[in-house]
Amino acid sequence: MSATRCPIPLSELESAARSTDTAIGLPPACYTDPGFWRFEQAAVFDTEWLCVGRASQIPEPGDYFTVTLLGAEPVIAVRNRDGRINVMSAVCRHRAMCITAPAERPEPEWFAPPPESSGTVRVFRCPYHWWTYDLDGRLVGAPEMSGRPGFDRTEIALPRLATEEWQGFIFCSFAADPAPLGPRMAPFDEMLAPYRLDEMTTTEPETLSLPFNWKVFAENFMDAYHSLRLHASLYDFTGADTAGETLLAGTFPALEPGSIGMGGRGRTGFKDRGMNPTQAALFPPIPTLTDEDRWNVVYLYVAPTLLLGVHSDSAHWLAVQPVSAAESLMTSGFLFPESTAKLKLFDQLLEQHKRGIGLFYDQDMPVAVASQRGMGSRFAPRGPLSPQDFFRSQLAEWLLEHYRAAESADQP
Ligand SMILES: [Fe+2]
Repeated sequence: MSATRCPIPLSELESAARSTDTAIGLPPACYTDPGFWRFEQAAVFDTEWLCVGRASQIPEPGDYFTVTLLGAEPVIAVRNRDGRINVMSAVCRHRAMCITAPAERPEPEWFAPPPESSGTVRVFRCPYHWWTYDLDGRLVGAPEMSGRPGFDRTEIALPRLATEEWQGFIFCSFAADPAPLGPRMAPFDEMLAPYRLDEMTTTEPETLSLPFNWKVFAENFMDAYHSLRLHASLYDFTGADTAGETLLAGTFPALEPGSIGMGGRGRTGFKDRGMNPTQAALFPPIPTLTDEDRWNVVYLYVAPTLLLGVHSDSAHWLAVQPVSAAESLMTSGFLFPESTAKLKLFDQLLEQHKRGIGLFYDQDMPVAVASQRGMGSRFAPRGPLSPQDFFRSQLAEWLLEHYRAAESADQP
């Protein structure tokens, strides 16, 4: 079967993309079936913008980090001599070796996947046969190849992906000519403007392998229905706090055609709210916020990979990559204004901040694992959505649009 034909008739998915009054969940196979995953990869992840990290991770020319996209595509994000960021294939054009993989590893690691790396280089030299590439991916050295008739190294380069920066995040796309990301996030520009996310610095990103479908995690992150229940012991979302009730449960701006943003702004029960047992922000407010802004939180999804929770003192970002039908990879970090990152007790506060948010993950992660298990059950439901499941119907609408586009592109 073609990867651009959905193994489930699209007509069966339509009932997930309706308003929450009548919508039911996506078919469980959308979370478990390898055939559906291959289709979804072609329809969504091969066509859309994928977040790989923050521009501030590579501030100077030659700074780079690697990431494996979709569990199978090793790429390098690198700042070139002109200060522009390239995202390009890390696969050597000679023998397909990953050029940033180590030349040598101890025996217990021989058969482990090549590790990700980061650092500063002048060029990338493949350790296998020393083919060498510059920061734009051009082949600048290939030992002994001048002995091959007609070999012209200037014709060879690492494939570069379409790349765009948005709010300080680096996005890339496998599509040859994807619609620019910035205009497709325009409905959220005003909401995000006071925070100046692009000027913020990130903590060292951490990666986690998640044993569940990427949608299980995205849906959990944006789901207010569970916040008010599963997390009831951690955080008082009720009363005057409308962030949980209205932000995530029905007052998202409607999904505009071509948009890739879902989410919105909500007002919290008091100023400078924090996600820790004190319920108060641990860091000073972001200096550019007005007094009024400090009552707000913004929760935003830049489909299909980036999840953002923006509070009055900091932001939490999570880039979720699918690896297979039932596995994902999450890279996450926290954003702070430079002035906050310079605080004397920053490291201590950050530890407390992470612990506070960690309490939520202590609940979310086991629930996600158990939901993935349930999705594989012969008794798995297509359950009715609650009015507070608003995000799931919006995500299904967005996905269905992509599934349809992939199928119609596949028509002979
Ligand atoms: Fe949660």
